[in-house]
Amino acid sequence: MTDHDHLLTIAKQSRENAHAPYSNFRVGAALRATSGRVFGGCNVENATYGLTVCAERVAIFKAISEGERGFDAIAVVADTDTLTPPCGACRQLLWEFCGDIPVILCNLKGKTETIQMRDLFPKPFDSSNL
Ligand code: THU
Repeated sequence: MTDHDHLLTIAKQSRENAHAPYSNFRVGAALRATSGRVFGGCNVENATYGLTVCAERVAIFKAISEGERGFDAIAVVADTDTLTPPCGACRQLLWEFCGDIPVILCNLKGKTETIQMRDLFPKPFDSSNL
């Protein structure tokens, strides 16, 4: 099994835990730290809608709260024909915490595409702007 395959497996498993009763749009993510640990995440919705947290940010916050710093890839899985990329808010946090990592997108049919963060988020605002 390749490193990418392992991340996709964890992202698919995490997606099973999605709490998405409002959108029915279930997303899973798996973030690999440079330590080798992999953190899964799923989207978590709530009745106000606006407090929803995406799968990618759940994975980031789990890893950061466990003391991890430094990441080398993230996988994102949804059940869509057009692969689902991270939203704008997640791109900001992915850039700040992970930098120019590969983002591996996948659907449940096995279609996959890998995009670098610099291409997903080409003109970032980050600590270098402060
Ligand atoms: N969502 C994610 O979890 N990640 C993405 O990359 C796109 C969107 C979630 C948020 C919300 O629960 C649902 O998908 C519909 O937007």
